[in-house]
Amino acid sequence: MLTLLKIDASAQLEDRSLTRQLTTLFADTLREEASQVRMIARDVGRAPPPFVDHRFIHAAFTPAEQREPWMTGVLKPSDALIDEVLAADIIVMGAPMYNYGMPAALKAWFDQVARIGRTFSFDLDRGDFPIEPMLSGKKLVVLSSRGEFGFAEGGVRADSNMLDPAIAACAHYLGVARDGIQTVAIEYQEFKDERHRKSVETARERTVEIARHLAG
Ligand SMILES: Cc1cc2nc3c(=O)[nH]c(=O)nc-3n(C[C@H](O)[C@H](O)[C@H](O)COP(=O)(O)O)c2cc1C
Repeated sequence: MLTLLKIDASAQLEDRSLTRQLTTLFADTLREEASQVRMIARDVGRAPPPFVDHRFIHAAFTPAEQREPWMTGVLKPSDALIDEVLAADIIVMGAPMYNYGMPAALKAWFDQVARIGRTFSFDLDRGDFPIEPMLSGKKLVVLSSRGEFGFAEGGVRADSNMLDPAIAACAHYLGVARDGIQTVAIEYQEFKDERHRKSVETARERTVEIARHLAG
């Protein structure tokens, strides 16, 4: 049995969101191709996780056995989101580009999931790289959409792409290795021209291909 965690981060709803359409296509294809798939749907676009504040930081950095009841309460949303990541074999993430980076709701999700003692350990004996992930072996499929174009390596706007590098940098908190990430991106959404139409078509084909491959 495969467990899929489907995360949607668009502020737009299904009929107007290209990334939501891609994550649905991915999930449908995976369920058609794999014998048994359990899906967990986490919609941070509709219901954004709380932002990190001083109470969260105090609670997260207090060892579990010393936490006061209010700390356990503050960490509840984070615990629930982390449990979903723990359960997942595959994470599919609908990640629109907003102001050249990820939507604030998706960043809030990463901030809740990156937690000492649950998803990473910290040890200065490791020298200059004290952080190590506690999870491993998961696959991440990032399904993105952009209004402009040229954000891939070597493209005319590659230098402005703060979305893909940020997700790749945080992926180890999800137990995803660098080579465990696959990204598909629709471009030209704001141009609404033939280039956009082609980009949607290619992205849909690639999404189906990845889902079939991961279904095994
Ligand atoms: C708040 C907001 C900010 C955006 N910022 C960018 C941007 O910086 N660069 C870009 O290429 N497109 C930008 N866009 C366009 C979106 O990336 C594009 O509409 C994409 O299709 C959104 O994903 P969705 O269709 O799943 O909602 C922005 C759209 C919104 C609503």
